[in-house]
Amino acid sequence: MALVESIEFSVFAQFATMNHRILIGSMLLLLGLTQALARDSIFKRTFQKLHEEPPLPLKQARDDTVETLWIEQKLDHFDENEIRTWQMRYMLNRQYFEAGGPLFIFLGGEWEISQGRITGGHMYDMAKEHNGLLAYTEHRYYGQSRPLPNLSNENIKYLHVKQALADLAHFITTQKATIEGLADSKVIIVGGSYSATMVTWFKKLYPDLVVGGWASSAPLLAKVNFVEYKEVTGQSISQLGGYACYNRIENGIAELENMFATKRGAEVKAMLKLCEPFDVNSDLDVWTLFSEISDIFAGVVQTHNTGQIEGVCQKILAESTDVGGVSSYILGEFGNSQKCNDLSYDAIISSLLESTYTGNIMRQWIYQTCNEYGWYQTSGSSDQPFGTKFPLTLYTTMCADAYGSQYGNEFINNQVAATNELFGGLEPGVENVYLTHGLLDPWHAMGIKDESQATMIPNYAHCKDFDSISDSDTSEMRASKERIAELVREWLK
Ligand SMILES: *[C@@H]1O[C@H](CO)[C@@H](O)[C@H](O)[C@H]1NC(C)=O
Repeated sequence: MALVESIEFSVFAQFATMNHRILIGSMLLLLGLTQALARDSIFKRTFQKLHEEPPLPLKQARDDTVETLWIEQKLDHFDENEIRTWQMRYMLNRQYFEAGGPLFIFLGGEWEISQGRITGGHMYDMAKEHNGLLAYTEHRYYGQSRPLPNLSNENIKYLHVKQALADLAHFITTQKATIEGLADSKVIIVGGSYSATMVTWFKKLYPDLVVGGWASSAPLLAKVNFVEYKEVTGQSISQLGGYACYNRIENGIAELENMFATKRGAEVKAMLKLCEPFDVNSDLDVWTLFSEISDIFAGVVQTHNTGQIEGVCQKILAESTDVGGVSSYILGEFGNSQKCNDLSYDAIISSLLESTYTGNIMRQWIYQTCNEYGWYQTSGSSDQPFGTKFPLTLYTTMCADAYGSQYGNEFINNQVAATNELFGGLEPGVENVYLTHGLLDPWHAMGIKDESQATMIPNYAHCKDFDSISDSDTSEMRASKERIAELVREWLK
């Protein structure tokens, strides 16, 4: 809830010199504002957690200067008749750069870029070792990089990974042509999650522009029905939280499903404080609810740091019944600032239809899934604890309702097949890309698992290897960081 925090900060800063009565008045105003923002934002909060910028390195060089700059890009790199252009944001840190030194670029994904990415961490340490220039590029349609003034169906069609990779190619050639001392420099690219996918695919499409890349937690296989995601989520819960926890989640959710099936939906609705117009007889509403519950658990696993999964399991196991444990935890996560919890299908569709830039990226990212990747984390496997009530139909229906009726099942399947055709899926055929995965991370199921091609790091979740080498690293984590540092030395020889 960074938005709320920043409003809070500015309101207090503004009123700090006024008298107490006004201060109290503004606090009440603020309370109302916070509640208004918290309302209807359960989907957005859960979504944000699953799509946030990879965690920023803990140790930061706070004295470095980071420049925020803009570069002109074509709206459409593949249509010569389309002459519109736009400004893409990027950041540079020249602290250690010496003429001829390499360029290290962290690629932005489906998030807003921030300075801390290039003022600390393992990539930063490598740039320091090689007197490199550090850059961070923002992906079109995310953050402040807005090719067109809104996200209407007509305008969003220039959001595609092929366009984003072409933006990056233009960025690299332009920097080399304009920054003094960079003309003959070698380029290394780094990314996490979707931006790690981009690292791999950029090396495939533009092999001559970069000498190597590091891709942490890269999903490489586009797949419509991504049933493995919730399987790994369940395995990680079982591994760290114990089988009793897994069992309780499985039984608690089964009991909730059973209540809907036996005409006790109204009880569930009351227990989870679901707002009108949630319709206990509507498949789409019930599916939306169970999808959201499973995603709340996924958020815990995907972002896990030491103790996080265990802490949630303790809470769930503290209650006396399975359904009580699951529902009290879920209610807590819904937040208690609002009178009721709006989890209807219409509520999620109205978020997806918001065509202004709001800082929330659901409309953009779900568009990319409907048009390029699928990756719907459905209840299609029985080997996971989150029940049966979030089938693929929920997600494909959402695509059509949010972006147009052409986004039907067959169309989505064809688009996803085209993505794999273009980039090679699990056989991308690229050289000099170092792939890493945390074994707790549900996304690793869409990556290369063969240990001769990718490094699997036990006990870590999604994108957890960007920090500097530290004593708190496990031996496997440390070995992986040392390996990429060694590879970079070879690539830069
Ligand atoms: C969206 O932007 C286009 C220009 O690209 C404009 O014509 C259209 O009216 C805008 N739509 C809305 C809903 O603001």
